[in-house]
Amino acid sequence: MSRKILVTSALPYANGAIHLGHLVEYIQTDIWVRYQKMAGNECWYVCADDTHGTPIMLRAEKEGITPEQLIARVHGEHSRDFAGFHVDFDNYYSTHSDETRACADDIYRKLRAAGLIETRHIEQYYDPLKQLFLPDRFIKGECPKCGAKDQYGDNCESCGAAYAPTDLKDPYSAISGAKPELRTSEHYFFKLSDPRCESFLRQYTSRDNGVLQNEAANKMQEWLGAPGENKLTDWDISRDAPYFGFEIPDAPGKYYYVWLDAPIGYMGSFRNLCARNGLDFDEYFKPDSSTELYHFIGKDILYFHALFWPAELQHAGYRTPTKIFAHGFLTVDGAKMSKSRGTFITAQSYLDTGLNPEWLRYYYAAKLSASMEDIDLNLEDFSARVNADLIGKYVNIASRAAGFVARRFSGQLAAASSDLPAIRSIQDAAGRIGELYEAREFARAMREIMLLADAANQYVDHVKPWELAKQEGQDGALHTACSNALNLFRLLSVLLKPVLPKLVADVEHFLNIAPLTWADTASLLATGHRISPYEHLMTRVDPKLIANLIAANTESLAPTPAPTTPPPDESQPSAVNAHAANAHAANTTPTGTPLCDIDDFMKVDLRVVRIAHAEHVAGAEKLVRLTLELGNDETRQVFAGIKSAYDPALLIGRLTVMVANLAPRKMKFGLSEGMVLAASDGEGKTPGIFLLTPDSGAQPGMRVK
Ligand code: 2FM
Ligand code: ZN
Repeated sequence: MSRKILVTSALPYANGAIHLGHLVEYIQTDIWVRYQKMAGNECWYVCADDTHGTPIMLRAEKEGITPEQLIARVHGEHSRDFAGFHVDFDNYYSTHSDETRACADDIYRKLRAAGLIETRHIEQYYDPLKQLFLPDRFIKGECPKCGAKDQYGDNCESCGAAYAPTDLKDPYSAISGAKPELRTSEHYFFKLSDPRCESFLRQYTSRDNGVLQNEAANKMQEWLGAPGENKLTDWDISRDAPYFGFEIPDAPGKYYYVWLDAPIGYMGSFRNLCARNGLDFDEYFKPDSSTELYHFIGKDILYFHALFWPAELQHAGYRTPTKIFAHGFLTVDGAKMSKSRGTFITAQSYLDTGLNPEWLRYYYAAKLSASMEDIDLNLEDFSARVNADLIGKYVNIASRAAGFVARRFSGQLAAASSDLPAIRSIQDAAGRIGELYEAREFARAMREIMLLADAANQYVDHVKPWELAKQEGQDGALHTACSNALNLFRLLSVLLKPVLPKLVADVEHFLNIAPLTWADTASLLATGHRISPYEHLMTRVDPKLIANLIAANTESLAPTPAPTTPPPDESQPSAVNAHAANAHAANTTPTGTPLCDIDDFMKVDLRVVRIAHAEHVAGAEKLVRLTLELGNDETRQVFAGIKSAYDPALLIGRLTVMVANLAPRKMKFGLSEGMVLAASDGEGKTPGIFLLTPDSGAQPGMRVK
């Protein structure tokens, strides 16, 4: 009997672009949903933009538009990006909707009636200039642990310490720069520490219950504490005006915190879909529902999905999620995505550069498993894998057989050999591969499918249609060989369809068949079936495209340069401007070097860095290998010609200055990703090399200008 399944991916915030990190989750979910639909299940995939909160309110203000205008624009951008990657939601909605508000109010009222909402007065930082309470990320100051300056209110990026905003020394508002004041205000809390929540969550998140992956279940036990030791704390679900969100019933000036209505946005989106498609919302959300509910999320938002959300649903009289599937993060070439390295790649730039979205879908599938481990997008491996598997193994089968069928047999097929081992093994493997999709073991599924494609190619290599075509009296053998090859291709297409929906739609057109379903693995094309003319199905990855992609995403860390000309009413130039004007006339400086203007100078991104590690390079006369920390967890490897002047061991820990946007250079010893600044007289009159050091107090990542 067909299952009824509701699936969600996490709702992206409505103030940023979709990037390749986001796409891991949407592609993973989309593949899973497509498999379910192919397998004959009733499966609905909903999502929405996460539209509320202070950052979105401030972003709109900065752009001079209303939050409603901002979220409408971003909704269009997100929808375009998802469609570009064939992520096919049944509904892509918004949390700023009547349905989400109604569901949020309903849940809130039921929790309040159950005695699980309580108010408390809390002290919080308030920006007296902007006249708003500051979220933790909008308060900055000196780290109470290590003294690093300009750290956020929740944790220090220099030493990693976590703390409350009130612990910061010399706090200031990151919005206005004003010194924040502590003010008291009434907040609404969801009583997560209530014994009812605790006992429910202990059972719900236990390993035996199977809702969570084992590693997630273990994490939950840590968060809950040992039996008898309830470590759960109540959850602050309100924010004060001004706030972009929904006002809490009977609480004027108080709004639901964005994370309260975000998961409720799943319900809102589904309710909207139900109204449009005539589905029964209650059938999916009633407590004893026989339908299944799955949330795909990143491992960073487990707390919200595995604790708050099920506890809310349970105590508001709704069903709880069947399973929560958490995945790891994306790294690119082994490191966190980085704007200065060009690896913070937006969905739009990928598509605009002309890369095929299905290359990425396949690559991610070939990497994804059911675990919470991070996955790496290695750009060299990406090209090699896509070219070898999709072009070399899969598409190749069709291109080797189609021409003969068209030219020699008017596009009509002969009977396939149903007992051919290559055909039989695909049909035998279909059930197992289906189970791998179901279990989100996509990498294993891709490996199995490629082994089957290898066997199909070996069959073609063995029967050699190109030789049969030249031999007299071999028409029958040629016809059978090509028909078998196209049947093999069709069967592999079924197995790959969840991953490659557009390509397989083109295959369906070429084979002149109805949309393939999983059950089609049991059948073969009929004798005499007529195929359409073959058209090229997929091109190889051109390495130039990858280089263009990186270039398109390489963003200087430089802020917008300061204006270079004085305002028109300053008729008398200052001494500095007068000097600049004279120098311009001569076009050189007193030292004889050509002049550069401020715009040129600002192109060079100079940053304070900490030397995390330094070592000699075996076989190099002058070089020292440096590992430089730029802040924000970003590190660079740089080879510096300073061996004659410095003992590497003495460099470790010191600060210096690097050119952070120098194009990386491949050297004999590895990639050099920048340059450190050092002085020398250049002529050897004063021997020595002198590394620059910033004044004390400077922190890694600070711009030098
Ligand atoms: O972490 C995020 O990007 C959130 N916008 C995810 C919300 S998921 C769900 F709860 F809505
Ligand atoms: Zn610190």
